[in-house]
Amino acid sequence: MAQPEANGRAAGSSQMALSFGRKRGVVVAEGERWARNSGFLLAALDHMLESGEAERMICDELEALEERLRDLPGPLDVQTLFRRPYVSLSWRIVTGQRFLAGQAERITALFQAEMAAFQNSWVDNRLLRALFPERSGFADVLRFRDEVRRLFAAAVTSGGEGREGTLVSRLRAERGADWDPATDEDLVMFFFDFLNAGCETTSSFNEWALLYLLREPEQQALVRRELKALGRPATAADRERLPRTRAFLAEVFRRSSLTPAGVPHRATGAFSVEGYRVPADTVLRYGILASHWSDALWQEPERFRPERFLRDGAFVPNADLVPYGIGPRVCTGRRLAELYNFLSVTRLLQRFELAPPDGAPPPGEDAWMGLSRNCRPFQLELRPR
Ligand code: HEM
Repeated sequence: MAQPEANGRAAGSSQMALSFGRKRGVVVAEGERWARNSGFLLAALDHMLESGEAERMICDELEALEERLRDLPGPLDVQTLFRRPYVSLSWRIVTGQRFLAGQAERITALFQAEMAAFQNSWVDNRLLRALFPERSGFADVLRFRDEVRRLFAAAVTSGGEGREGTLVSRLRAERGADWDPATDEDLVMFFFDFLNAGCETTSSFNEWALLYLLREPEQQALVRRELKALGRPATAADRERLPRTRAFLAEVFRRSSLTPAGVPHRATGAFSVEGYRVPADTVLRYGILASHWSDALWQEPERFRPERFLRDGAFVPNADLVPYGIGPRVCTGRRLAELYNFLSVTRLLQRFELAPPDGAPPPGEDAWMGLSRNCRPFQLELRPR
């Protein structure tokens, strides 16, 4: 990905339809628009992270999740837990608004239908999807795009509180009084990008983290001991003080390799690499899972062993751990994702006991491939501490 020509984006025709046919936002954008939009998003996220606003919003959403969990009886399906808080968080970061009653459920349902549609082999076939819009999933992509866009336009034009630092307020400051947020396709595409790029990935990460906490009780005990010694709820500022926890999270990333081949790139022009000629428009992928599981790079890569990220009790990053990709198109949301994942796992551990349902064996490491590499559905008991 070192060559500039290797950093276009390959997008299916259904993804293009979602982007109004015009490569808006960041994920599918290219060239000058990509440079401008990704620079804008990165600066906005950095500002929210540094001002503490992102942490406040994440904690609000996780607190709402934890309240729901306290009231839910019996074993929980792990896949029902993490999407909704993330969807609400994204809405707040982009629009500056909280969801109105029922909106979180509606948007999460539309989004999940859109995600399922992207797995449908007919959705990018123009003939099949014209003949069978529902069966091909294309109708779900358009419903998500059009219904969410309507809700979005209403939210960004209705005024409201708490908008300082959010994407709408930054764009308003940049573009001036004549700018209309309701018709800005890049703005709504930022929200779609938050969901498409961030929701499955963060949810899948949290599911894998719970899986390894159940599978590896000794590791769970070590992380819990470190969190207990902290003596209060963990915050973003505590990350440096929690090397065990960071090593555990890094090892979850390595073993799960939930983005096994990144997101497809497109060669914007011909180029050569190690003697091979790559023609323009070639689809390019790189092997994240292959490097995470390589025995040339890691000792006993098949073992879950967070200690590989620890030396003399300190956390040691490893440049071969690349869950967010590499090069100029590395994940724009990586700092936000790191914080969200850190807070969700530490908060759950500090507030709940986790166990497989009575008598059930711990879940296995088998995966299925959706937009990310996911663990198989499993259940767990969460008991308030
Ligand atoms: C565990 C969580 C996440 C993982 C593992 C992850 C991983 C990735 C990967 C591998 C890419 C592709 C890089 C490439 O094309 O070379 C990517 C791109 C991207 N991610 Fe993430 N991501 C995560 C969470 C998020 C979140 C929370 C956001 C929210 C803003 C986000 C926004 C993006 C965007 C906008 C891109 C496109 C970057 C571009 O095309 O320039 N991601 N991510």
